[in-house]
Amino acid sequence: MSARKKLKFGALIHGVGGNISAWRHPEIPSDASVSLPFYVQAAQKAEEGLFDLVFIADGLYINEKSIPHFLNRFEPITILSALAAVTKKIGLVGTLSSSYSEPFTVARQFGSLDQISGGRAGWNVVTSPLEGSARNYGRTEHPTHDERYEIAEEYLAVTKGLWDSWEDDAFVRDKESGVFFDPSKLHKLNHKGKHFSVEGPLNVARSKQGQPVIFQAGSSESGKNLAAKEADAVFTGQENLQEAKAFYKDVKDRAVAFGRSRDDIAILPGIGPIIGRTQEEAERKYEEIASLVSIEKALDYLGRFFEHHDFSQYPLDEPFPDIGDLGSNSFRSGTDKIKKDAREQGLTLRQVALRAATPRGQFIGTPEQIADQLEQWHKEEAADGFIIHSTLPSGLNDFVELVVPLLQERGIYRTEYEADTLRGNLGVPIPANRYTLAKASVEV
Ligand SMILES: Cc1cc2nc3c(=O)[nH]c(=O)nc-3n(C[C@H](O)[C@H](O)[C@H](O)COP(=O)(O)O)c2cc1C
Repeated sequence: MSARKKLKFGALIHGVGGNISAWRHPEIPSDASVSLPFYVQAAQKAEEGLFDLVFIADGLYINEKSIPHFLNRFEPITILSALAAVTKKIGLVGTLSSSYSEPFTVARQFGSLDQISGGRAGWNVVTSPLEGSARNYGRTEHPTHDERYEIAEEYLAVTKGLWDSWEDDAFVRDKESGVFFDPSKLHKLNHKGKHFSVEGPLNVARSKQGQPVIFQAGSSESGKNLAAKEADAVFTGQENLQEAKAFYKDVKDRAVAFGRSRDDIAILPGIGPIIGRTQEEAERKYEEIASLVSIEKALDYLGRFFEHHDFSQYPLDEPFPDIGDLGSNSFRSGTDKIKKDAREQGLTLRQVALRAATPRGQFIGTPEQIADQLEQWHKEEAADGFIIHSTLPSGLNDFVELVVPLLQERGIYRTEYEADTLRGNLGVPIPANRYTLAKASVEV
C-alpha cells in the first residue's frame, strides 16, 4: 500500500477534555488545559505513535456555561510553537478563525510556525460559529453563515497568495557581494477584493513544505464546498459507517467538480475510541466518564450549539422542543443533525442532552475490535484517517501502545515517518511558488 493510501492519524489535544465533566475524573490533571507538560507529553506520545499531526482546536467566545476546557486554555499558535521545540516529525495543526482575524497577520503566524517547525504547520480554517465572538471583536453583528464562508474563501486566496511572496531561492545572503536577496524574486500580492485589501509582500518566506497545510472542519454545504475547493484535508464528525461513506464520497466528488483529484483531499473523521482489554472493561470506562455528567450540565452543553439557548425551561422527559431555526447560523451541520435525529427517533430532551454531552461513539472495545473498525472504515472509503480525541490521557496511550501495532501488522499504517514535513507525511504535494511557475511556463 502506498504511503498516501495508508491510514493517517491526528491527536486532538484537549486539556481537561471535550466532555463537560471529564475534568473530575481522577486520571485528568484538573489544570491540564493550561499545563505545558501535559501538552508536551501528549504530543510526544502521538509522535511515538507516528501520528501525522497534533491538533489544537479553538473558539472565540465563552460564558459561564461553557465546558471547563474552554474557560481557560492555550491559544493554538502559541502552544504549537512550544510543541515545535520538543517534537521532530509530527505535524502541528491549529484552528484560527477567518471571520475574526486579518489574513496578513494569520499568514505571518502560520508562516512563522512553518519555519520554526521545519515545515510541519497546518491551519484549520474555521468561520467561527458563535455569535458572541462578534462582541469580543468590537463588531455589531456576527456575519451570517453564508457570508462567513464567502469571507473565508477570499481570506484563503489572500493568505495563500501572501505565502508565495518570496520565491524559494530569493534569499541570496551573499556576505561577499552584500546581496541579501534577489528583488526579482520578491512579489507583491496587490489584492483588492470585496472583503480584503492587502498589498504585501509578506515578511516571512516559504518553509521547506512550501505552504502550511490547509484543513477545514465545517460539514454544512458551504463548509463542504470550501473544503473541496481549497483544503488539503477535512475534519468531520460522522457517527456511523454509512454516514461517513456518504460524506466521504460527497466531498471527494465536489473536489473533482472543482478540477482536483480525489486524492488531493484527505477525509479525517474525529473519533473518541475507548479501549479496554475486554469489551466489558471498555464499557466500564465509558460509564465512568458518562456518570460524571449531571443533566443540568448536559443541558448547558447542548445549549452552546444553539447560540447558548436555555434548555432548562423545557420538560426533560417530553419530546425535544420545537426550537425552529435556532442553531442554523452557528454550528449548522451539527445542529441540523441533532434536530433531525430527535425528530426521526422520537427522542426526549433528556436523551438528546445526554447523547450530546456523553457521546458513546462507535469505537469502543478491545484493541482488535477498534483496529477492525478502523480498517473497515478505511477499506470502505469512509475515511483516509482519523482525528483521535481521547477523553482520558490513557486513551491516547492505549491507542498508541495497543492499536497502532495491530494496524502496522496489517500493513495499513506506517512503521516509520516517511518525511519530516507535514505535507511529506500526509502525502500532500508541495505547491509550486506561483511566480516561479509562471516564469517557467513563459520560458517553455
Ligand atoms: C475534529 C473536528 C474539529 C473541529 N474543530 C473546530 C474548532 O477548533 N473550532 C471551531 O469553531 N469548529 C471546529 N469544528 C467544526 C465545528 O464542529 C462546526 O462543524 C463548524 O464550526 C460549523 O461549520 P458548519 O456549519 O459548516 O458545519 C471541528 C469539527 C471537527 C469534526
